Order: sequence, then structure tokens, then C-alpha cells
Amino acid sequence: MPSFNVSMILVILSSLSFLSLTSAQVPNYRYHFCSNESTFTPNSTYQFNLNHLLSSLSSNATRESGFYNATAGQTPTAATLYGLFLCRGDLTTDACQDCVATATTEIVQQYCPTGKVAVIWYDECMLRYSNRSFFSTMQEEPSKFLWNVRNIIEQDRFRKLVEATLNDLVPMATNAPSGAKKFAAKEVSFTEFQTLYSLVQCSPDISGSDCNMCLWGAMANLPMCCDGKQGGRVLFPSCNLRYETYPFYQIQSVLTPSPPSPTPTPMLLPPPAPGHLTRPKARSAITTIESLKFDLATIETATHKFSYDKKLGGGGFGEVYKILNFDECVDIEKQRLLDWSKRDKIIEGIARGILYLHEDSQLRVIHRDLKASNILLDEDMNPKISDFGVARIFGVDQTEGNTSTIVGT
Ligand SMILES: *[C@@H]1O[C@H](CO)[C@@H](O)[C@H](O)[C@H]1NC(C)=O
Ligand SMILES: *[C@@H]1O[C@H](CO)[C@@H](O)[C@H](O)[C@H]1NC(C)=O
Ligand SMILES: *[C@@H]1O[C@H](CO)[C@@H](O)[C@H](O)[C@H]1NC(C)=O
Ligand SMILES: *[C@@H]1O[C@H](CO)[C@@H](O)[C@H](O)[C@H]1NC(C)=O
Ligand SMILES: *[C@@H]1O[C@H](CO)[C@@H](O)[C@H](O)[C@H]1NC(C)=O
Ligand SMILES: *[C@@H]1O[C@H](CO)[C@@H](O)[C@H](O)[C@H]1NC(C)=O
Repeated sequence: MPSFNVSMILVILSSLSFLSLTSAQVPNYRYHFCSNESTFTPNSTYQFNLNHLLSSLSSNATRESGFYNATAGQTPTAATLYGLFLCRGDLTTDACQDCVATATTEIVQQYCPTGKVAVIWYDECMLRYSNRSFFSTMQEEPSKFLWNVRNIIEQDRFRKLVEATLNDLVPMATNAPSGAKKFAAKEVSFTEFQTLYSLVQCSPDISGSDCNMCLWGAMANLPMCCDGKQGGRVLFPSCNLRYETYPFYQIQSVLTPSPPSPTPTPMLLPPPAPGHLTRPKARSAITTIESLKFDLATIETATHKFSYDKKLGGGGFGEVYKILNFDECVDIEKQRLLDWSKRDKIIEGIARGILYLHEDSQLRVIHRDLKASNILLDEDMNPKISDFGVARIFGVDQTEGNTSTIVGT
């Protein structure tokens, strides 16, 4: 082989490696939102402030945290702007800077020239701004769901693996110490040849419990968008999650730190979402909610001193009595709070939740522990079914199941 060929190859190789070392990585655009109803006039103070905001975001993209929030226009006026960027947790500061530089340019030049409110997502980072302050506020809208078009084999097993993995990742992100990245990623093997790569991340300005709520909200959308697919992601302004069967983050830079915490961090309650099955493994939430307790005298009155003719039968946890005038037993003050229209609304809400679990949700769920203390009420008395601790998942076509343990009420 003539020697000049070899040296030519060497020249090409060395220039390629030179390129890959120095050229900026082009971030992959995914989606943007632009308020077309609230717009600003070109060359206005708003425009001036926006330019200022974007340049200070861009110049702060070298920060180790991969996050920065900024305000333009000091005292709040009609032209004050609030903005932030968040880079994917595994990125180097250089890659983060590249993404933010691209985002701050493209958002105004290409995607949203005059919108007052904008959000743009790339694979590598997210940038948003608004004329309303949104710092430390959890937001799930505008949102975008994306999925890998390839189907997965063994759908059920894959879905369970995704759920279990995300379940593990959520607390890692939410329990991150303040100031640290609210980010976690990990890989687990699915088959001999396929690995599941998953990632969750919150904007670090929101609290741990908001992060938890945001990620659970994101997970609740997975059955709708991404079931049966090899990958999926949910993009919210305040958090995002993604999983694929190929590595889409820099594995070596993802450390899953487990900082020694002197006091155990309390497990956080996921937002009650009927039909959404995944839940933290610890059965902690319900114990913090005061259950209805009656003193013995009340129960004696209600059951006519445990009279035999009031007995309906027995369950796994004791005997069951019929209480005719139950409302007589509840204290009068509390009784007034619940008029019949409210009760009717609560009953209807519970029935709708159960109908959803039995008929409409992707997974058929038999709750097996439906009782008053498992119904949570919000301030508007909207009921939510909680405590799926002993719930069972039925196959869509399954009409019967056997169990050897006694559970429920
Ligand atoms: C704003 O965008 C929405 C959705 O794309 C569109 O339906 C609507 O017509 C737009 N409004 C204006 C004023 O352009
Ligand atoms: C943001 O802009 C919209 C549209 O111009 C306006 O209606 C709204 O009041 C503004 N919000 C704040 C907090 O200034
Ligand atoms: C923009 O504003 C500057 C200074 O306020 C002014 O000199 C310029 O003419 C304006 N340009 C346009 C296109 O309005
Ligand atoms: C970061 O942003 C602030 C304003 O938010 C700005 O004063 C500063 O120049 C920016 N750049 C760096 C490198 O800190
Ligand atoms: C960043 O957000 C925090 C609230 O999370 C706020 O207190 C702070 O002033 C913001 N920083 C800037 C430069 O706007
Ligand atoms: C439940 O048990 C009965 C009696 O042992 C059996 O005939 C039936 O096939 C079982 N059903 C299921 C779904 O396993």
C-alpha cells in the first residue's frame, strides 16, 4: 500500500477528532409553546427586556447546576419578564451552554418572535419565559407527550418494569438536597439484549413535594401516550421524564448519589389519581391521615350493644354491624358541614372513580379496600379514592381471580 494513502487517512482521522472535540453540539429541538394571544410590540420595552433576559440566561449557562432563573426589568411593571432554563442533568456545562445558546436564539428568531409567554424543549434543555412570575411554582401546562414509534415485545412485563423503575427514580429526584439537581436516571435490563434507560428531572426551583406531584402527574399520562411503545416521555414546564431502550443520556456522568441523611426523609404522598396504579412502596401516606375513630360508647349505641340482630356478618378484621341511624352518631357540628347535596356529589364521585377503575382504565383494578377512610376529600368536597395497598390488577378479559389471603373490608 503506498504510504501517502496511510498519511491521508491519518489526516482525515485527526481532523475528524478535532471537529468532534471543538464543534458545538447541535441540540435536538422537540416542541415549543408560544402564546399567540398575549404578544408584544416589536421594539418595545418588552422586547428590550426579553433580549436582556435571554442574554443573561445564556451567559449563566456555564453554571454547574445546569439551571438559572432571571428577571428582566427591576420593579414589576407591565414589561417585567421572568425566565429560566434547565439542562438535562447529565450534560456537561459546555453542552448545556450550547443548548441554551441555541434555545435563546431560535425561540425568538424562529418559533416565537412576538409571544410574551414561551416554552421550548430540546432533548438537552428547556427554556421558558413569561410576563408573569412563575418561579417556585409547579406547572404541568403546557405539556407534550412523545413516544418512540417502535412497539415493544412483552408489553405487560415492560410496562411493569417502567413503572417500577420510575417509582424508584422519583424519590431520588424529589429528595435531592436543596440547591442540588432534582435529577435521577438509571438503567435496568429488560431482556438479554435490551436495556431500559429511564430519567426523571424537576426544575430545582420547585419544592420536593411539588416535584413529587409533578412527576406522578407525568407518570399518570404514560398509559395514554406511550403504552406498548419502546420509549416515551412527558414534558411539563416543571418536570419531565423519559425512558427508552437505548442510552439517551451520558451514563458515565450520571451518578445516583445517595447522600447520607441523618433523619429519614418522609415519603411523599402521590397525588390521588384513580386508575393510576403505581405507588410508593411504603404504605406511609395513609397513616398520616387521621382515620375516623369512634369511642366505645358511640359504637355501643350504634350497634345496640353489639346486638345479634344488628350483625351483618364477619370480615378479615372482625365482625360487621349494621348501623341504622349512623349520622346520629357523628357529631352534630361535622354533620352540618355535609348536607345531602354534598353527600350526593361525593357518592357520585366515588362511583365514577370505581367505574373508571373497573371499566375504563387501561388496567382493570379491583380496589378491595373501599371504605370511608380511603376516600380523601379536597376543600371542594371532591372525593378521591386512595390506598391501593391491597388492590389487584385484573387482565382486561379476566372475570375471575383466586386469592388465598384475606384482605379488605
Ligand atoms: C392561537 O393558536 C391556536 C392554536 O394553535 C389557534 O387555534 C388560534 O387561532 C390562534 N390565535 C390567534 C389569534 O392567532
Ligand atoms: C401579561 O400579558 C398579558 C397580555 O398582554 C396581560 O393580559 C397580563 O395582564 C400580563 N400579566 C402580567 C402579570 O403583567
Ligand atoms: C426602535 O427603537 C429605537 C430606539 O428607541 C429607534 O431609534 C428605532 O427607530 C426603532 N426602530 C423601529 C423599527 O421602530
Ligand atoms: C448572569 O445573570 C445576571 C443577571 O441575572 C447577570 O448580571 C450576569 O452578568 C450573568 N452572567 C454571568 C456570567 O453571571
Ligand atoms: C430565582 O427564583 C427565586 C425563587 O425560586 C427568586 O427568589 C429569585 O429572585 C430568582 N432570581 C432571579 C435572578 O430572578
Ligand atoms: C379459581 O379456583 C377454582 C377452584 O379451585 C378454579 O376452578 C378456577 O379455575 C380458578 N380460577 C382462576 C382464574 O385461577
